[in-house]
Amino acid sequence: MTRQNDLMPGFPVSRLRRGRMHMFSRSILTENSIRCHDLIWPVFVTEGQNIIEPIDGLSGIDRISLDILGQRAKAAHRLGIPAIAIFPRIDPARKDADGTNALANDNLVCRAIAAIKSAEPDMGVIVDIALDPFTTHGHDGLIRDGVVDNDASLDILIKQAINYAQSGADIVAPSDMMDGRVGAIRAGLDEASFSHVMIMSYAAKYASALYAPFRTAVSANTLTDIADKTSYQMNPANSDEAMREIALDIKEGTDFIIIKPGMPYLDIIRQAHDQFNIPIFAYQVSGEYQMIQSLASTLAQDKQKALIMEMLISFKRAGCTGILSYYAYQVAEWLNET
Ligand code: PBG
Repeated sequence: MTRQNDLMPGFPVSRLRRGRMHMFSRSILTENSIRCHDLIWPVFVTEGQNIIEPIDGLSGIDRISLDILGQRAKAAHRLGIPAIAIFPRIDPARKDADGTNALANDNLVCRAIAAIKSAEPDMGVIVDIALDPFTTHGHDGLIRDGVVDNDASLDILIKQAINYAQSGADIVAPSDMMDGRVGAIRAGLDEASFSHVMIMSYAAKYASALYAPFRTAVSANTLTDIADKTSYQMNPANSDEAMREIALDIKEGTDFIIIKPGMPYLDIIRQAHDQFNIPIFAYQVSGEYQMIQSLASTLAQDKQKALIMEMLISFKRAGCTGILSYYAYQVAEWLNET
């Protein structure tokens, strides 16, 4: 490959500022953009009626009951957001060590799927496949003999995926990081006549401190007792291993992949984009959102907007097809204004 710099005349013939001097030229030279269709909106749902409760440590984000979810799904669809990802706060009384409520066909997630579909049939619905909202210990899989047991967990994850498919989910998103779960879930869905249901695997999901606000939001822990997921989520020091995880998920039949968290892992997104021909989604997770919020809260409105858009465009530049972001709704409103 010819190095670009070898072909370029030097200064003063080359002046890159020429293209930056006018609004129109900056505009035609724009390489990437954020559009509403890039955005997936994660929402936190809870039991009850007419509930909009602020989440501690996640400023501006609410936990909502399913009636409100229906209204918000309609509004989001009107703005052009193509899909919502559901995250439940399960009533502690329904949690147990094996997360059995994940398999109940009337659990909060199943009813949330139905609420979105009845309010707005064209809204895409994405659901997390993992046991953590349902387990008393907050782990994503089953604990056997003191460890999160990979193969024992697969069986319940398949059933969870089928349960959600039956409730009308369009995309299942395994976020548990068990080995072999994509292939197992694909086979389970196909056998249960859900070959049309898509899999968006969290192919490279890191053991990140940035998930802390999320775990409070779904009450997967108390802040003093955060489950240590390092026996299944990836080591933040590794990138070659992420490529192996992605290769395995593609071989097992995932339709798309998620890389998570987002901003500290842009190198992983770029590497994946260069190596694999598959749509990539980034999850800008709760801790990233909150970090941005803490700066945004010190800025004037136009600068807040610039900050948030700058963070989001980094994902497109790195090679993402789309982004899961708690800013999705806000950004869709802005994009509809202009
Ligand atoms: C659960 C799950 C987590 C997130 C999404 N799904 C937390 C975790 O793995 O502990 C985090 C999302 C966020 O922080 O916004 N499997």
